[in-house]
Amino acid sequence: MSGLANKKILLGVTGGIACYKSAVLLRALQSAGAEVRVVMTPAAQAFVTPLTFQALSGHPVYTELLDPAQEAAMDHISLARWADLVMIAPATADFMARVATGQANDLLATLCLATETQIVLAPAMNRQMWLNSATQDNLQRLIQRGYLCWGPDDGAQACGETGPGRMLEPEALCQLVENYFSPGTLQGVKVLITAGATREPIDPVRYVGNRSSGKMGYAVAESMRDLGAEVTLVSGPTALTSPSKITTIQVETAAEMYSSVMAHVDNCDIFIAVAAVADYRPNHIASNKIKKNKEILALELVKNPDILAEVAAKNDPPFTVGFAAETDQVEQYADEKRRRKQLDMIAANRVGSRVGGFESDQNALLLLWQDGREELPMMEKSYLAQRLAERIAKQFHARN
Ligand code: C5P
Repeated sequence: MSGLANKKILLGVTGGIACYKSAVLLRALQSAGAEVRVVMTPAAQAFVTPLTFQALSGHPVYTELLDPAQEAAMDHISLARWADLVMIAPATADFMARVATGQANDLLATLCLATETQIVLAPAMNRQMWLNSATQDNLQRLIQRGYLCWGPDDGAQACGETGPGRMLEPEALCQLVENYFSPGTLQGVKVLITAGATREPIDPVRYVGNRSSGKMGYAVAESMRDLGAEVTLVSGPTALTSPSKITTIQVETAAEMYSSVMAHVDNCDIFIAVAAVADYRPNHIASNKIKKNKEILALELVKNPDILAEVAAKNDPPFTVGFAAETDQVEQYADEKRRRKQLDMIAANRVGSRVGGFESDQNALLLLWQDGREELPMMEKSYLAQRLAERIAKQFHARN
């Protein structure tokens, strides 16, 4: 592998148990051709000694901000400018909080302030710490400043709990670094994506909604961006952070999503409809909260426009990809939908079973296009989105 030949990567290691994996990451980056220098925080050195990273990288490890010997070898400003990419793996909650507030109280935090290079965080921490709104607020601030965040994964944690907060595996991180530096198969391609559920108001406090979390749509948007595409994401309300380097437009109802898509679609090459758009909306929205004074309350619903079908039926449509959630006869129903809506590709998933689907972090997809199919087995939505993005890129280029 030489996908990272001539690339200089500054690997920042902060103090979490996942830092034993950073040694493997260092090796993977080197095997891909990168030149790597390591900076460790004091807490990281409580888990792994600098000697480990020194022996693996073949270079001294930088640990001190005010050490004359280290500053003589390469001062912190030069080190900050040396790198083509600064990768913090693992990034602890404490480290994220410190850089979010612009602190310069150790060498690595100072480097983050002093560099104009892209900084990537690979967070690793206990799930409660990850989900804490303090951590999420800090992450949001960092993303707004242009930081990239890769992971974390969901799964078993060193503390014995299960949930989000595992650092991505070294091989996956290394692949993301390679994708970051590769020109991308979608360089210069404009992609429009819908994600999340829509909310159709009934009265000022209630709405008709569905269980879509938006995770799949956001992951697809990030994967298309990582292939080099210029991505616009039209999102219904979700609990997710707007991804960096993606134009995100927040909408609430199907009608708003429709208007937003129609305003942007003529300027896009690929349209991917991942959103779980409400098929119907209440015919009348009550102006006041509806009182519970009737035994039976009938709600009259009218059909919403089918955004995907309308885009595909345009005169000069973009490459259109739809999703199909089916409970049975998945392939047959999905393929019928693909043909009926004149889609270039459909991604079908089985819903209603215990694993995968709407609120889950995992999913499996069956991809169908005019003369081909690909089955993507159950995996994390972020990996699944990468595989889907690669397939869309391939079929897009084949059609053009
Ligand atoms: O026909 P069905 O709703 O099952 O099709 C699902 C696909 O159509 C998804 O890609 C979804 O984003 C899209 N869709 C849409 N507008 C609607 C309903 C569905 O874009 N009103």
